[in-house]
Amino acid sequence: MAEDTVAILGGKGMLGTDLARECTRQGINFEVFDLPEFDITNEQHLGKAIRDAKAIINCAAYTDVEKTESETNPAYQVNGAAVGRLGALARQANIWVLHISTDFVFDGKSERPYLETDLPNPINAYGKTKLAGEQLLVESRCRCCIMRLEWTYGCHGNNFVTKLLKKTETDKQLKVVDDQVGSPTATTQVAKVICRLLRKKPEGLFHFASAGYVSRFEMAKFIFDKLNMPVDLSGCKTSDYVSAAVRPLNSRFDCSKIKALLSEPIEPWQGPLERFLRQL
Ligand SMILES: NC(=O)c1ccc[n+]([C@@H]2O[C@H](COP(=O)([O-])OP(=O)(O)OC[C@H]3O[C@@H](n4cnc5c(N)ncnc54)[C@H](OP(=O)(O)O)[C@@H]3O)[C@@H](O)[C@H]2O)c1
Repeated sequence: MAEDTVAILGGKGMLGTDLARECTRQGINFEVFDLPEFDITNEQHLGKAIRDAKAIINCAAYTDVEKTESETNPAYQVNGAAVGRLGALARQANIWVLHISTDFVFDGKSERPYLETDLPNPINAYGKTKLAGEQLLVESRCRCCIMRLEWTYGCHGNNFVTKLLKKTETDKQLKVVDDQVGSPTATTQVAKVICRLLRKKPEGLFHFASAGYVSRFEMAKFIFDKLNMPVDLSGCKTSDYVSAAVRPLNSRFDCSKIKALLSEPIEPWQGPLERFLRQL
């Protein structure tokens, strides 16, 4: 790898693909590492991937929240243990790491948007493995920035928007939870912010999401309205759903800390979502 190259781990996933595109757009040299050629749980693969990298962006993760309840150890190996090893290697080589984490580290019981200083308390196995990754990375004492995201969607992966639209293929009557609140966030927006952070290489924990808050039900209504889709939509409660993993009700982030680093204000969630829907 050339010396000024950014290593994007998990670069073929939903976020990684948009990040790679944004790097191309901005003239940032990068190399993508992902399954099957690159396995983050393999220390040799990791060592090779980060050798000579100017920075590492870790988007690799075991992201199946439901499956993590029964397959906790494979998820922990990717989301937890491997991130600790990445930190140790990065510290040895003195490379800055930007690691992606999630709102699922919180229990969602707070009455206000979550700050970086709020204590995490994951309520499902996925959140526990992601919190372990954050902690192991910090314990490695490498130069690192942890960026927590929530409710992301993009063209290159399964997400709430694509799942919702898929459902309408068989069902014109849909129930969507109205008690989970957060900020829909496009991976294209996240990618732009990551590129900005790459230039500044800040250290510490940061929350990032599009501006404004909405319930899943209101988000679904916005999507069907914009697409002019005649769907009979009604609200329901999270407790009405049977699922393996418990979900936090409040995913709202306070993004003041990252806002202070960015030169532009964070765009409200409606604009990027509308643009995403137009290109579907
Ligand atoms: N999606 C959300 O709503 C959301 C919200 C908050 C935070 N996040 C975080 O955002 C980050 C990016 O997730 P995403 O949404 O882009 O998910 P994604 O599309 O599932 O991307 C994850 C990538 O990591 C790869 N991967 C899995 N196991 C690996 C391994 N052992 N070695 C190397 N690569 C491996 C996946 O490959 P395969 O596809 O082949 O498994 C995939 O390409 C994750 O840290 C996630 O926790 C996501």
